[in-house]
Amino acid sequence: MKAAVVSSFDTVPHYEEFPAPDATAPHALLVDVLAAGLHPRVLAQADGSHYTSTDELPLVPGIDGVGRGRDGVLRYFVLPDTALGAMAEQTVIDTRRSIVLPEGCDPVLIAAAMNPAMSSWIALRQRTHFPAGANVLILGATGSAGQMAVQVARLFGAGQIIAVGRDAARLAALPALGATATVLLDADDAASARRLADAAADVDVVLDYLWGAPTSAAMTTLATHRADPRRPLTWIEIGSVAGSTTQIPSAAFRSIPLQLVGSGQGSVSARDILAVLPALVQEIIAGTFTVDVRPVPLADVEQAWADAPRSAQRIVLVP
Ligand SMILES: NC(=O)c1ccc[n+]([C@@H]2O[C@H](COP(=O)([O-])OP(=O)(O)OC[C@H]3O[C@@H](n4cnc5c(N)ncnc54)[C@H](OP(=O)(O)O)[C@@H]3O)[C@@H](O)[C@H]2O)c1
Repeated sequence: MKAAVVSSFDTVPHYEEFPAPDATAPHALLVDVLAAGLHPRVLAQADGSHYTSTDELPLVPGIDGVGRGRDGVLRYFVLPDTALGAMAEQTVIDTRRSIVLPEGCDPVLIAAAMNPAMSSWIALRQRTHFPAGANVLILGATGSAGQMAVQVARLFGAGQIIAVGRDAARLAALPALGATATVLLDADDAASARRLADAAADVDVVLDYLWGAPTSAAMTTLATHRADPRRPLTWIEIGSVAGSTTQIPSAAFRSIPLQLVGSGQGSVSARDILAVLPALVQEIIAGTFTVDVRPVPLADVEQAWADAPRSAQRIVLVP
C-alpha cells in the first residue's frame, strides 16, 4: 500500500510503498483511511520531537483520522503511540479507541476538527471546573486549536471570551466566532501588556497554547491587574508553539490564588479523552463550529509538510 513514510527524523515524510498491515490483535480492525489531520502533534511525531517519541523508524505519522473498516462501518479513530499511523491507505485501529460515525458526514471535516477542538473541550471539562458565565482567556487564539477554543467556550456558555494572538488579521476574525474581546500581542511589549491588563482583569481560566516568553509576560500582567486579587485563576497549559519552557514569575503564585495545570496526552487518561469524543463529534456534524480546512492528496505529503507550519487552514491528507 502507499503511505507517508518517515525514514529519518531530519527529512519530511515521503509518499512510498509500505507493507500492508495485519489486524490480528483483539479489538484490532483494518480500516481504509479516508482522512487524517496534519496537526502540530503530527509534525512533532514525524521529526521525533514530541514527548511521546520512541525514536522508532520507519514511521508512518498520523495520530487520528476517519476510516472505513472491513465491517463497512465509518469511524473516527485515535491511534495509540504506534509506528503505523493514519497517513496511509490503510491502518489498524483499536475499535475501543474509535467512535462510529453516521453515514453522510464529511470525513475531512471530522479529521480536521477533532484534535484542535478536543484540546479546549477536555481542558475546560476535565482539568478545571468551568461553569456557564465563567470568563476565559485564550493565549494563542489564532491557530486551529485557538479558534476552536473560542467556539467551544461559547458553546459552554462562557461569559467573557478574550482572544489573544499576534496575527492582527486572524485575530479580527475571532469575534464572529464568539470572542467578546481581542488583544493583539505585538513588538511593543509594554503596549501589549497594557491591552492585556485592560481586557483580562476578571478572567477565571487561561487556555494557553503558547508557553515560552508570551506566557511569562502574560502571567505577570494578569497576576498584577486582577480586579479582585482574591478571585482564583486557573492557568491550563495546552500547547507550546512559542517555546517548550517558560519562566514562571514567583510573585504570580504568591499574590493571587493561581493554579497551574496541564492538559494533554498523559495528564488526561486515554479513557477520559475517549469519553468526550461522542459529544464533540455530534457538535462538529451539527455544524456548531466553523472549521477552516484544506484537503490535500496523500501523494502530495511533502508539499503538505512544507505548507503546514504557516498554513492558516488545517491540512487534512486524503489517501
Ligand atoms: N494538549 C492538547 O490536548 C493539544 C491538542 C491540540 C493542540 N495542542 C497544541 O496546541 C498548540 C496549537 O495547536 P494548533 O493546532 O492551534 O496549531 P496551529 O494551527 O499551527 O496554530 C498555531 C498558532 O500559534 C501562533 N503562534 C505561533 N507562535 C506564536 C507566538 N510566539 N505568539 C503568538 N502566537 C504564535 C501562530 O500564528 P502566527 O501566524 O502568528 O505564527 C498560529 O496561529 C500546539 O502546540 C499543539 O501541539 C495541544
